[in-house]
Amino acid sequence: MTARPDAPLKVTGRATYALDNVVEGAAHGYLVLSTVARGELASMDVEAVRAAPGVLAVYTPFEPLPLHPVNSALLGRMWLPLQDKDVRYHGQPIGFVVAETFEQARDAAALADVAYHERPAATSFSDGLTSAVDAQPAASEAPPSLTVLADGVASIEDALEASDVTIDATYETAAQNHAAMEPHSALAVWSGGELTVYAGNQAPHLVASDLASAVDVPVDAVHVENPVVGGAFGGKATSMPALLASAAAVALDRPVKAALTREQVFTATANRPATRQRIALGARRDGGLVAVRHDSWSTTTREIGFVEPTSHGTSREWYTTENLAISQKAVPLDVPPATFMRAPGEAPGSFALESAVDELAEAIGMDPVALRLRNNSTAPPGEDLQWSSKHLDECFEIGAARFGWADRTPGGRRDGDWLVGMGTATAMFPGLRFPATVGVTLHDDGTADVATAGADPGTGLLGVLRIVGAESLDVPQDRVVPRLGDSRLPPGGLSGGSTATASAGSATMVAASTVIEQLVALASSEEGPLRGHDVGYAHGTVYALDAPERDPMTFGDVLRATGRSTLSATGTTAPGEETTKHSFGSWGAQFCEVRVHRLTREVRVSRLLGVFDAGRIINPRTARGQLAGGMIWGVSAALHEGIEFDDDGRMSRRDLADYLLPVNADIPDVDVQFVEHPDTLLSDLGARGLGEIGIVGVAAAVANAVHNATGIRVRRLPIRIEDLLEDG
Ligand code: MOS
Repeated sequence: MTARPDAPLKVTGRATYALDNVVEGAAHGYLVLSTVARGELASMDVEAVRAAPGVLAVYTPFEPLPLHPVNSALLGRMWLPLQDKDVRYHGQPIGFVVAETFEQARDAAALADVAYHERPAATSFSDGLTSAVDAQPAASEAPPSLTVLADGVASIEDALEASDVTIDATYETAAQNHAAMEPHSALAVWSGGELTVYAGNQAPHLVASDLASAVDVPVDAVHVENPVVGGAFGGKATSMPALLASAAAVALDRPVKAALTREQVFTATANRPATRQRIALGARRDGGLVAVRHDSWSTTTREIGFVEPTSHGTSREWYTTENLAISQKAVPLDVPPATFMRAPGEAPGSFALESAVDELAEAIGMDPVALRLRNNSTAPPGEDLQWSSKHLDECFEIGAARFGWADRTPGGRRDGDWLVGMGTATAMFPGLRFPATVGVTLHDDGTADVATAGADPGTGLLGVLRIVGAESLDVPQDRVVPRLGDSRLPPGGLSGGSTATASAGSATMVAASTVIEQLVALASSEEGPLRGHDVGYAHGTVYALDAPERDPMTFGDVLRATGRSTLSATGTTAPGEETTKHSFGSWGAQFCEVRVHRLTREVRVSRLLGVFDAGRIINPRTARGQLAGGMIWGVSAALHEGIEFDDDGRMSRRDLADYLLPVNADIPDVDVQFVEHPDTLLSDLGARGLGEIGIVGVAAAVANAVHNATGIRVRRLPIRIEDLLEDG
């Protein structure tokens, strides 16, 4: 167990977040947002804005701040603010006011007089359904739809028809905001042809490249820093304020700070889209799945950007079935854009699939755990690539015993005025790696740096670098200094896709063994202290194999003896051949107990247990934190969160008073357990991702527990008291 290296800084309030950086002469930018959901800007009268105290510049689509096209490695072709007059949603950035102080910029921005050519907007799911189109799921090469049929089966409908038992139901999930504690913000400093940007993000080297394109300067001249990030969850792959602050800093030749208010974060960034999913399952009497059909719709902008991969992320590969048909459709609306959010696809997809599996268990009269194990897949349907290491059965067995699942009865139980129920669900997240480079530098004082650009938005990557660095160099952890959050460090450690540990961790191992080889060569070289000897390395020391009487030397000793202050090497790893030989995924079993008040219908989650199979666990302390946090978010999705729009397209809940998030009193003790089977087929490190799987399945486990307690099946998130009023 290793404490977070950045914990003391964070808990004492000394961590320097982007906006905490103080630069002499910084100006402050404030966004102006649209107040209609669809149309075109007719005019923007900004005379009063310009005349307001302290105002330095006003940028609008009529007087734009030049931004050049950006093809982002993570997000593709990016929409850039203030470059055209189209209004695509209520709350879209349409202006940027820069003033001497934040208050001056904010007050001046309120004076903008904006006229629109307004057009009728579609902002509700049902409005958009008629124009739904087939769409490729985000971040995937997969086609929008895919069908796998057994020999002799003509269609998925025939397969369902021929099944002994079928269920067919439609589920809905609400749009969500990442609601990271640190709102999106940036400080951009333009000096001597170099742009330095402080902005919370998930990969500073990638954001630096986006900003270089946007302001049209060489990428070497852009330096992005994010040593601490106050949460990201997929919502900080880019930074709207960094784009605007950078361009304004160049235009004004002054440092510019820009921060979104909490309300602005809700519309001026991007959200998890709302989804609708229809699932049909067909099974034999013994529970064996014969047919799975999963059709998904997710809301997008009219340009169709991000499509939440709910069908592809779940039914595509979770269960063995002879027949499978999945599809993804986009529902274009005049609402803020969608993007990645923790377990994109799997989180809302698992609500639908794992509720449906529960409904099937009831229809067959089979225990929900037994039904899941009966259909445990050894490979995704229709593919030969077996899972590299899958121990979902062990997760369910340990979880069921630990949770007391055997006490569950089909109708739940009563405890005074409370109806008590238990539910379960499967969790899964793909095991991925991205290319990563890590640098290891040995210092003559006996310490070592382990450095990669990356980010630790609370995920624990900093500690992972320390642990893996120490074990690879075979030195105590307190001699390793992990470094992250600077685009000038070796490129790697993107905090996304639950990939950072496997990617940066395996690159650390390569870098460490390379630097050890260099050290050994140096020690035995002509200039080295052990010249002429065969030299070995163990426990952080170099020793002469053929002269055991000589004292071993630390790497610091060797460096000092050769008059060097440092010795460095980088290591790079990337996904390779292994992806053609196996399928990779982390798995988990979620268990939930709820108490529903007999009269008020209030739902309280009273117990949560998640048992996870995520390969080797590098740091149990932060791993538990990641998973518990994800499980809490699952409860939040089940019972609290949900973006809604007024009829005029204005987001009706866009602050932390109205957009409901759980508080401590909503969350019981969260029990997180691991079954630890290192997955060395994915990488030498043996770790698979665990950043996102915690949220997966939880909402279904809650809904299944609510059904167990009350007999009421709620197929729409969040579950509301109104959904649980006695049905007749
Ligand atoms: Mo995560 S949603 O892959 O940043």
